[in-house]
Amino acid sequence: MKSSDPIQGRSLSRRRLLASAAASAAASLFPRWAMAEDSAANIATDPRRPQFHLLPAKNWMNDPNGPVYFNGKYHMFCQFNPLAAVWGDMSWYHSESPDMLHWNHKPLAMTPTPGSPDEYGCFSGSAIKVGKRVYQVYTGTKLSSPELATIRDGENKIQESQCIAWSDDPALVKWTKLPEPIIPLPPPGMKITGFRDPSAWKQGDWYYMTVGSGEAEVGGCVLLYRTKNLVDPKSWEYMHKLTSGEWTGKKTANPCDDGEMWECPDFFALDGGHVLIYSTLGKVIWESGHLDEATMTFTKKKTGELDLGAFYAPKTQLDAKGRRILWGWIQEKRSDAEMKVAGWSGMMSLPRVLSLDVDGTLRVRVLPEAVGLRAGTLPSKGLEVGQKDTPVFLTMLPKASGEVLCVGRKGARMEFTINMKSEEILKATYTPETHKFVVDSKEVQLEASDEPSLHAYVDGSVIELIISERIGYTKRFYYPDSTAPDIGVGATGTADIKLAGWKVGPISKDRLTTPIFTI
Ligand code: FRU
Repeated sequence: MKSSDPIQGRSLSRRRLLASAAASAAASLFPRWAMAEDSAANIATDPRRPQFHLLPAKNWMNDPNGPVYFNGKYHMFCQFNPLAAVWGDMSWYHSESPDMLHWNHKPLAMTPTPGSPDEYGCFSGSAIKVGKRVYQVYTGTKLSSPELATIRDGENKIQESQCIAWSDDPALVKWTKLPEPIIPLPPPGMKITGFRDPSAWKQGDWYYMTVGSGEAEVGGCVLLYRTKNLVDPKSWEYMHKLTSGEWTGKKTANPCDDGEMWECPDFFALDGGHVLIYSTLGKVIWESGHLDEATMTFTKKKTGELDLGAFYAPKTQLDAKGRRILWGWIQEKRSDAEMKVAGWSGMMSLPRVLSLDVDGTLRVRVLPEAVGLRAGTLPSKGLEVGQKDTPVFLTMLPKASGEVLCVGRKGARMEFTINMKSEEILKATYTPETHKFVVDSKEVQLEASDEPSLHAYVDGSVIELIISERIGYTKRFYYPDSTAPDIGVGATGTADIKLAGWKVGPISKDRLTTPIFTI
């Protein structure tokens, strides 16, 4: 959850933020290039800024938007504030990659258009490829009367509508927006708590689209629409709720915090089943099950969380090999004031490959090609401390950067820690009797067939950990120093622990701070 925006109330009070956001939207006039050219030098040497994760050249980012493989390249878009390192003036940043690991920045794809349905901000959305054209469905937001407002935050003055833009440009640099929304209003008769983050796909003769939503004191839900003509607003029909949840019963000022609103739904076929992903209650949930294509109803069979940490609003895409790739927004855990001083905020997760086991449980691992980022093996020492049957394995990640793989054995206890100087910043313990990990204070129950394993990427101020190829745990850590500290990784247990470490090479010379200013 973000905390300084009107949807999620970050660290500014929501009232103050709305006042300032309303002022900037009223002026909503920042030019289409919209990237001030200062401060990149400081960012380029900030040791907390990652070296092998994607993030904008500067300023604030949140959700991945419309990732798409097109014309031999990977294109990633994300929510972006061109003017500051805090949430606001939502625009679409654009980056391009040959391999989902190395990135170049491109000009902004979309910024709010004054006098249009997206004049307050171009919120999250998704790509759909049709021949040589890529469409992006997204949520346009504008200030409105309380009756038309769809963000129910006590202020009730922002209206969301579903919009579309397209590009026939082989490089996806030039985008054309349809001036009117394709779906201007939510279904009538619902006490809507939000209406955003569309995601579209083609199935048979129809295009379908999900929209994240919810009803007050009922719970979050995903709305399903269909059309035969993407760009004809009159042709879009509301079908039904694809799925819905239950309200926790707790009232909060923010419907995302109490499960009354589901953000960023993503629904796709995977390994013979269907998977739905959505974000609410500060968590990212997956559900797997069966889609009845005749009635377009989804029956959930299994559910779980995708990541237990600073990871939110993910989105998936198919890659060139047909794999389902998951991207998530890695949030900061620092104040608005600290983010402003840093000049940047947020990053994209590494690409994670999703697959479904035959029993419907979701499997997740970092893109295997990320081994290509390895820049040498790190020595790992096995020390026999104390008892002979409890050796301790240690490795050191110089300057807070590297990859570690720790594999234990089902019958044996294992304890794994990551330390910064003398401070323990992450601890994971595997207990064979329960076949569970406890990671910091969070429990992860493994499936019977799972081996206890921990795969960690450490990059400046983030740890991306994948637990037994089942679930992620993304953690942020900070330090005041002007150089990054070495990070110690240790593992101990009753037997057979393998701990391997690698250096990871940077994906750019200047921590991706070289922007592109022109369209
Ligand atoms: C999720 C979210 C989306 C919205 C976007 C606005 O983080 O709140 O629901 O479209 O961020 O930036």
